[in-house]
Amino acid sequence: MINYLASKFIKRYKETEDPVVQAEYISLSGSLGLALNLVLFISKLVVGFVTNSIAIISDSFNNLSDSLTSVIAIIGGIASKQPADKEHPQGHGRYEYVASLFVSMIIMYVGFELFKNSVIKIRHPEDMDFNVISVGVLLFSNIVKIYMYSYNSKLAKRFDSTLNDGVAKDSLNDVIATTGILIAGAVSVFLGKNLDGIAGVLISILVFKTGLEFASSTISVLVGEQPSEELIESIVNEVEKGKYIKGYHDLIVHNYGRGKIIASIHVEIPIDISVVEIHNIIDGIERAVLNRTGVELVIHMDPSYSIYEQYSSEDMDLETKVVDIIDMKDDYFKLESAAKIIKSGGLVAMPTETVYGLAADGLNPEAVQKIFDVKQRPADNPLILHVSSVEEVEPLVTEISDKAKLLMDKLWPGPLTIVFKKSDLVPDIITAGADTVAIRLPDNEIARALIKLSGTPIAAPSANISGRPSPTNAIDVFVDLNGKIDMILDGGGSKIGIESTVVDVVDEQPKILRPGYYGYDTISKLIPEVSYDRALVSEGEVPRSPGQKYRHYAPKAELHVYSASLDNQIKRLQDDIAKYKAEDKKVGIMTFTEHMPVYDADVILNVGSIYDLEEMARMLFSKLRDFDRMGVDIILVEGVEETGLGFAIMNRLRKSAGNKVIEE
Ligand code: TXA
Ligand code: MG
Repeated sequence: MINYLASKFIKRYKETEDPVVQAEYISLSGSLGLALNLVLFISKLVVGFVTNSIAIISDSFNNLSDSLTSVIAIIGGIASKQPADKEHPQGHGRYEYVASLFVSMIIMYVGFELFKNSVIKIRHPEDMDFNVISVGVLLFSNIVKIYMYSYNSKLAKRFDSTLNDGVAKDSLNDVIATTGILIAGAVSVFLGKNLDGIAGVLISILVFKTGLEFASSTISVLVGEQPSEELIESIVNEVEKGKYIKGYHDLIVHNYGRGKIIASIHVEIPIDISVVEIHNIIDGIERAVLNRTGVELVIHMDPSYSIYEQYSSEDMDLETKVVDIIDMKDDYFKLESAAKIIKSGGLVAMPTETVYGLAADGLNPEAVQKIFDVKQRPADNPLILHVSSVEEVEPLVTEISDKAKLLMDKLWPGPLTIVFKKSDLVPDIITAGADTVAIRLPDNEIARALIKLSGTPIAAPSANISGRPSPTNAIDVFVDLNGKIDMILDGGGSKIGIESTVVDVVDEQPKILRPGYYGYDTISKLIPEVSYDRALVSEGEVPRSPGQKYRHYAPKAELHVYSASLDNQIKRLQDDIAKYKAEDKKVGIMTFTEHMPVYDADVILNVGSIYDLEEMARMLFSKLRDFDRMGVDIILVEGVEETGLGFAIMNRLRKSAGNKVIEE
């Protein structure tokens, strides 16, 4: 019946996850209870007077008090639905608890009254006329109450409603009480013993007890209860997944009723990380918790440990200094000391808009050799020279073609590397013996200032150990190169996150050798005859950019990337997660904010919205490193369509995967 009524009176009756709909169900159950209780009250009151039974009369008042409780249930349900306002910013969900408290008080009061009257009846027994009609009404009452018990306990379970739970319990007690009256009646008819008063006493104690229990459970919620283990576990789970979060304490959960849960937690964060970066991490955790549990979590940060310290050790070749550059003017002296290191043949990691670079004096072969040693880079992989202005290109090349000029004009400074014919000034070690040199003017003022102050073109590959994901923040550089280089300039997270586009304009037929932030569309608008190097689009070709032949960007775990062209990528990923889990593997997945809730992996890392590939590019490498930190056995990556920036992203992912791409 309740389902039938719901389909009649509740517009969105199927959306039972919605707290508004839940509240509507609860008030509907209240209205039904009110109607049924009124029927029972009137019929028992009449029968009670006709038969002169204190037990039946008390029982009728018991039902009246129940209808009162139904009224409060309805008011509570309506009030719970009221949206938050200025005076009640947490909404009105707790009205339900207040209403429940009222209900329990009334039940206790009725119990007390019943008790009093029944004691009087024991002392002064009166004749009573227990007949067929009274038996019929009492049996009818039991059937109604059993029905009420059944639908209220169902709703209580379904919506976790304390109110329906109370009504269900009360209905069951009513059945016991009414049955007691029936038995007492039978005894007086067949054995001639008037048990009316005694039955009344027993009923009253039962009723009082229900009220008391109901009150104490409601008060406990109002005072503030320990949240459920499951809830704590899922909140803590998301918090612990957060990058750089070492520990947590003081989790407090405030339940304002009907889906309004607010929580706070203290987490331990590093002392040596930029505010912007840790804010992004914290924000990500808060959003993940809201997604997973519906809880609005607020995170308090306790700076408590040093990341740099934990990677330091006594037997390092060098002491690597990490230097924050926050303000170009105030921190100028730091840039000067970095330039001094470059000029004397040392190594400095510097931020660029693409990824962090490992800088050395590009005209000093000994300094450049250090780059190869530190990175364990194959000697046949040439380096890019970085300049701080267009004028600095000329001495390094034999000729600047019109095409090159156009690219420099339009896309420099920026994430574009151009390959020229080299001049004699450029050492062989830079070009790996080739007669061409790759040059880039980065769009990052820290990098440009360092180049300018050093007074020399700067050789700078990505500042990672060869084969590892490129670093996009100072800490990722530190993890790979601490103790091996002189200094790291910390300029915050890289804006773009993947390396520059490399374009070769030396040949008649210009080529994109490495895809990057600028894709085919951007380059071909300026140089229509440009094409991708064939090695980028078909397998088995030898790439013209030596760096493209190695496995790159690889995290420690095996990585599979799923092509966006798969018919049902999500379903396939879900199946594979289940499969690897069954093999007892710790499975990590890299996915988008929108898809986070559909995967049941051990570690779920989010690279932003599926509609924002720039965000994905920015996060890609640091997330790959996060998987290592979390010790997963296998990483599954949701792929993107291979056009525009997606082409460059998939180029990096294919290399990370050692070409393990799931395509059908
Ligand atoms: O965004 C970037 O380019 C970053 C930042 C630090 O500027 N640097 C970077 O460097 O990615 P690296 O060394 O990791 O990659 C340089 C790429 C390699 O694929 C290399 O083979 C290619 O450029 N390259 C360098 N000189 C070349 C040349 N003369 N001809 C063809 N390819 C060249
Ligand atoms: Mg590299």
